[in-house]
Order: sequence, then structure tokens, then C-alpha cells
Amino acid sequence: MNNAPWKPRKVVIVGAGAVGSTFAYTLAQSGLADEILLRDHNHDLAMGQVLDLAHGQAFFPSVQIHEAETTDFADAHLIVITAGSKQRPGESRLDLLQRNVKIIYEIMDEIVAQKSAAVVLIVSNPVDILTYAAYKRSGWPRGRIIGSGTVLDSARFRSLLSQHCGVDVHNVHAYILGEHGDSEFAAWSMTNLAGLSIDQYCHLCSKCDDWQEARKKLADDVKHSAYHIIEYKGATWFGVGLALTQIAAAILRSQHGVLTVSSVLEGEFGLHGVSLGVPCIVSQNGVERILEVNLPPDEHNALVKSATIMRETIAQLGLAS
Ligand SMILES: NC(=O)c1ccc[n+]([C@@H]2O[C@H](COP(=O)([O-])OP(=O)(O)OC[C@H]3O[C@@H](n4cnc5c(N)ncnc54)[C@H](O)[C@@H]3O)[C@@H](O)[C@H]2O)c1
Repeated sequence: MNNAPWKPRKVVIVGAGAVGSTFAYTLAQSGLADEILLRDHNHDLAMGQVLDLAHGQAFFPSVQIHEAETTDFADAHLIVITAGSKQRPGESRLDLLQRNVKIIYEIMDEIVAQKSAAVVLIVSNPVDILTYAAYKRSGWPRGRIIGSGTVLDSARFRSLLSQHCGVDVHNVHAYILGEHGDSEFAAWSMTNLAGLSIDQYCHLCSKCDDWQEARKKLADDVKHSAYHIIEYKGATWFGVGLALTQIAAAILRSQHGVLTVSSVLEGEFGLHGVSLGVPCIVSQNGVERILEVNLPPDEHNALVKSATIMRETIAQLGLAS
């Protein structure tokens, strides 16, 4: 008989807005967590979301849903930070960024004070910068502070490729790397459909008149998809909620899944002092290993360009080591 005390798989979500609550909902449906706790400095919002979700308990796999106290950080397996501030009228991008760094610092200080052993997943934007800020503030091993990176962008890429090629999305493996933002790029060298490299697939398929043009358009569409959604409905939450659930599965089930989470680089790809979306093996410990894929020169250059842009912002914020 196993007398070891049972430890519920506990997930704390900080920020109970659109992204945090959608993630809570998809996570509850997944059955991955035994306890889901929500925290927001808008207490009424957190309580409203908790009650609304808890009323779905009869329809979810068994799960407890509560408002979180700071002490809940102590024994959480996963802490997901979606807390963020919106741009104020007349506020510069840098001022907004400084406010969001401050929010991340406050939350990280509370987590560290609780001697938490959790993996921390940063979602708030700009995710790569805030992941780096959280890592620097925490003093933790880099693998335990990760960002959602380009997991959502990679899912968008797979979806658009699937529609374009007329192949089930589950047979499409494709990755967007770099910044979760304007300097991201499609890693065509890592793209395959049912085991065929994209080049092999394009030779077999006669659908495109100009496959180079088609590839450029697909990558641009991925990059601009968030902007389009924001134009239509103001923000995005479903896709990211599902992407976060996939990352949570890799951590809570220690799946060793390959995901393009944002990870602090210490020499991988020749890059330092920056966090970017790169292929990583993700387990209960967070990023177990960064897969240092041998990228062709154009893709490697795109990654270096993304890192350079991120490092400029890191320097502006005074976060560079
Ligand atoms: N990484 C991605 O792929 C991705 C995708 C979509 C959105 N996002 C980002 O996620 C973040 C959240 O987006 P949203 O649409 O849910 O915004 P939202 O405004 O609906 O929710 C943010 C919540 O954070 C709370 N908050 C602010 N400061 C806090 C603090 N110190 N402690 C606790 N809670 C605090 C606010 O009260 C608010 O409820 C944004 O930064 C957004 O850009 C990231």
C-alpha cells in the first residue's frame, strides 16, 4: 500500500481577465488539474469568475475551483501569469512596458517569498520581455520560468497550413520561432506534413502556382492574425487558452512535449541574455532541454534579428546583466 500523502495537482492563475478565465475554463474541461485557483487584484472579478466556473463543476472532470491566497503559491505545481495592464491614453509603449514589468516583479516577489517549487508560465505581453524580467527577478533556474512564447503562433501556423494544403491539422508539424510578435518567423526547415518535409510535399502537390509566394503569405498571415482578431473583437482569448492548456499538460503530466515556449537562452543558437520562442522539451520541471536545431542561415539570421530587437528593449528597461 502506498501511504505517501496525496498531492493535488494545483494550478494558480494570476489575472482573471479574458485570457486567465478562458484558460481556467479549458483547463477545468481537460481534467489535468485537481485544483484551479484564480487571483486578480480586482477581487470582485476573481470571485465572479470563480463562482461562474464552479457552477460548471458538475460538467467538468472533478476539480476544485477557488480564489487564490498568496500562500497557495507555496504548493502549486504551476503558476500562470496573465496579469497585465492596458495602455493608458497618451502612454508610450515603454511606459506601459515599465508598468507591466512592475506587475510581474510584484507577483514574482510574492511567489519567491512563498518558497514555491512551481513552474511559472508567463503569458502577459510582451511575453518574451516579461519572461526574462521574471527570470532575472526570481533568481530561479531558467527552466522553471517560461513564457508561452510562440506556442499559439505555431498553432495558428498549423491551422493555416492545414487549410491551405487541405491536410488534417494533426498531420501538420510546423513551428514559429523567435519573438511572440512582429519579428517572429516560420521555421520552414522544421515543417513537415505526415513525415514529408514541406519541400517534398510541395513537389508532390500542384496546388500553388508559386509556392514561394504562398509560403510568404502564410507566414505573414500568421504574424498578423492577432491584429485581425483584435480589430474584430478587441482581444484574443480562445486560442491562447487552448495553447496554455497544452503547455499545462506537458508540465502537469510531465509529457516531455516539444513546444516553442519562450526560454532564456544561455548560448543556445549563439544567443545570450534574452528569452525567445524556441523548440523545447517541456516536463514537470518546465523546460527540460532546449532543442538546438540546426537552422539554415536565413532562419538562424531571423532568430538573431529577433534576439537583437528583444535585447534592445531589455537594455532600455535596465534588465540587461
Ligand atoms: N502570450 C500570448 O500568446 C497572449 C495571447 C493573448 C493575450 N496575451 C496577454 O495576456 C494578458 C492578459 O490579457 P487579457 O485579455 O486577459 O487582459 P484583461 O485586461 O482581460 O485581464 C488582465 C487582468 O490582470 C489583472 N491584473 C492587473 N494587475 C494585476 C496584479 N498585479 N495582480 C493580479 N491581477 C492583476 C487585471 O485586473 C485584469 O483582470 C495581456 O498582457 C495580453 O496581451 C498574451
